[in-house]
Amino acid sequence: MFRYLVTALMHRRPPLGRRLAFARARLAARASWRWTGREAFPATFAPVQAMGLTFPNPLGIAAGFDKRGQLGRRAGALGFGCIEVGTLTPRDAAAYVASKPARGATGSILGVNIGMSPETAPPYAQHDYLVGLRAVWGQADYIAINLCSPRAAELLHPSRREILEALLVALKREQRALTAVSGRYVPLAVKVRLPPGAVELPEVVARLAALRFDALIAAIDGGPPATSQRYADWQAAEWQRRACDRIERLAAVLAGRLPIIAVGGIGSAQHVAGRLRAGATLVQLHDALVYEGPWVALAIQRAGTRGTWPGACATVPLRDATGPDARP
Ligand SMILES: Cc1cc2nc3c(=O)[nH]c(=O)nc-3n(C[C@H](O)[C@H](O)[C@H](O)COP(=O)(O)O)c2cc1C
Repeated sequence: MFRYLVTALMHRRPPLGRRLAFARARLAARASWRWTGREAFPATFAPVQAMGLTFPNPLGIAAGFDKRGQLGRRAGALGFGCIEVGTLTPRDAAAYVASKPARGATGSILGVNIGMSPETAPPYAQHDYLVGLRAVWGQADYIAINLCSPRAAELLHPSRREILEALLVALKREQRALTAVSGRYVPLAVKVRLPPGAVELPEVVARLAALRFDALIAAIDGGPPATSQRYADWQAAEWQRRACDRIERLAAVLAGRLPIIAVGGIGSAQHVAGRLRAGATLVQLHDALVYEGPWVALAIQRAGTRGTWPGACATVPLRDATGPDARP
């Protein structure tokens, strides 16, 4: 019933449909947390080591679903091993940190996705990212650098190569400085969009590995607007195959130097199995939470437990992506 309502709203008034889906997820997580007082992690997946962190399972919520961190670590009550809140601009980051208690001990892994303000010109991007990084350092288990927003994507243009290089170097330098001051290493993942149709991999991918970032969040999606037609298209085997091919190529280029977090078009146990087999270490979902509802992660895990999809439990290659290379 609720699913039909959300689907109808997503046709006519997408922002309202998304707000409703988020409110439902938040309510479900709260209720589940209150009743059970713990995370909902069936033993479908073994925990995954990546970026020096232990993820209870490879399923995560992608950035943009919980922009202001209202769901946060309670995503664990919905069966997710990880949630990425944000994207937070410098101003959002300050407000977020002011509204949150110190790092909670329980629940899912918490990533905080930071970005630049829409009004910031590319040459000043470094300032925005560094302000965000310093602000959320104490709260996050890992920090995601968003290079997907329309403004940030300008940094990937070949004419801005030097600006991007300076930004990446400055982020790694600041990571080292903050680690020394706080005594805690917070991994940095970088989110880059790889449109499904494109053939070439962006240059930045090789640079991220060379500079020893901690993970690549590979967004295989066409960017906004995310329509209900696109969600329907993602259910086609051909779209899924193309996304898995992209991950496979990425994995071949990176050769284990950088764990891949795959996002885009993932909504079922088969989709998850496909991305993991192609070489991703973790996966993230966004629209599936809107269309399938808050229990999508548990449905994926149950499908695995029943052995209804190839690669569940026993054969999905859950890799340990933590090694000396994951450190600065
Ligand atoms: C409404 C909406 C808002 C989003 N906001 C963000 C954002 O703030 N930061 C970000 O990195 N990605 C954002 N994304 C992209 C998602 O994180 C994800 O990469 C994309 O939706 C593909 O995943 P999906 O096919 O599971 O939806 C947004 C996506 C949607 C649909």
